[in-house]
Amino acid sequence: MTLPTDRERVASRLRIGSELLYLSRQDVEHLQLTRDAILELTRQALVEHGHRRYEMPAKIGVHPYDNVFYHAMPAYLPEPGIVGMKWIECYPDNPRTFDLPQTTGLLVLNDVDSGVPLAVMDSAWLTAMRTPAVTVLAAATLHPDVTTFAMFGCGVQGIEHVRYAALAMPRLETIYVYDTNEAAADALIAKLQPELGLRIVKGESPEAVTKSAQVLSSATVILRQPLAVVQDEWVTAGQTILPCDLNTFWDPRTTHRADKYIVDSIEEHELFASMGYFPDGLPEVVAETGEVLAGVQPGRENADEIIVNSNIGMAVCDIAVGHAIMHHALEHGVGVRLSL
Ligand SMILES: NC(=O)c1ccc[n+]([C@@H]2O[C@H](COP(=O)([O-])OP(=O)(O)OC[C@H]3O[C@@H](n4cnc5c(N)ncnc54)[C@H](O)[C@@H]3O)[C@@H](O)[C@H]2O)c1
Repeated sequence: MTLPTDRERVASRLRIGSELLYLSRQDVEHLQLTRDAILELTRQALVEHGHRRYEMPAKIGVHPYDNVFYHAMPAYLPEPGIVGMKWIECYPDNPRTFDLPQTTGLLVLNDVDSGVPLAVMDSAWLTAMRTPAVTVLAAATLHPDVTTFAMFGCGVQGIEHVRYAALAMPRLETIYVYDTNEAAADALIAKLQPELGLRIVKGESPEAVTKSAQVLSSATVILRQPLAVVQDEWVTAGQTILPCDLNTFWDPRTTHRADKYIVDSIEEHELFASMGYFPDGLPEVVAETGEVLAGVQPGRENADEIIVNSNIGMAVCDIAVGHAIMHHALEHGVGVRLSL
């Protein structure tokens, strides 16, 4: 018996071309695709990217205010045949001004064969999930024996980074967390310490945290001018640094002197540099994250290397996770069907 194709699976539950599936944030969250599943989907998308089996133009954007961006993030993955686009915004002041998240958005998926839209879904949850998945997949590859992990920023991303770190770093003993808003760090620890059973320690200062952990990540704010919160003098040989907030948090001297500067997408980083981010210049990139995961480029080659791996987020990961969410929703009868 031959298995139904991806399109046949969709067509058995959705009138392709006549209707599309709409999934609200609550729908997406309640489906609860597992973190293990998201890790695997993200890994596959990164490996496809590493082998150059994708189409993904650098994000185009509009910028109504300083330090604010909207990005259109289209992508196509020939294997297994997914096409779609995420449309997101980043308003760093949203939490303060409107009590709204910094980042919200929608993901659209289309039928590769006919082009018609299949689904529109809230993309907050999948962004919160796939971003730490990229960080920890890279961290586990670049620093397989890590026992100490640090997370700067204890918001949406920080919380999920800690969960994913516990999942993907088998030897992890201690996680250090730091946030300028102490209540956010306290809330993270109160929530995750019992859930994960790992030692989670609130850092006293960025310096103390930097000096305590082998692998460090940051998800704070993305600004054109680096805050350089972590000073270069605190960074020591052998550390692996994985910013999700571009060049904001780290001293540019560190990214420039690192033995390896690896990014998820060179094109995306060049685009940000052309918009005025990286005022000290984009460091020389030695490889893309997907290439390291695919084994096309080397990762860590000795224990003393300082490696900075900046992942600003790629649409190939979004559409891979969104595609799985759509199938899951169709199978479980979740979401609203809208006429096209
Ligand atoms: N790389 C990606 O793929 C990707 C995806 C989603 C979000 N992001 C970025 O990640 C960052 C965090 O997103 P979020 O949704 O978790 O936001 P959030 O607002 O939920 O959390 C951010 C946290 O960082 C803290 N913070 C701000 N400045 C800080 C500083 N100088 N030191 C320590 N902590 C500080 C805030 O108090 C807050 O708790 C944003 O910049 C966002 O644009 C990146």
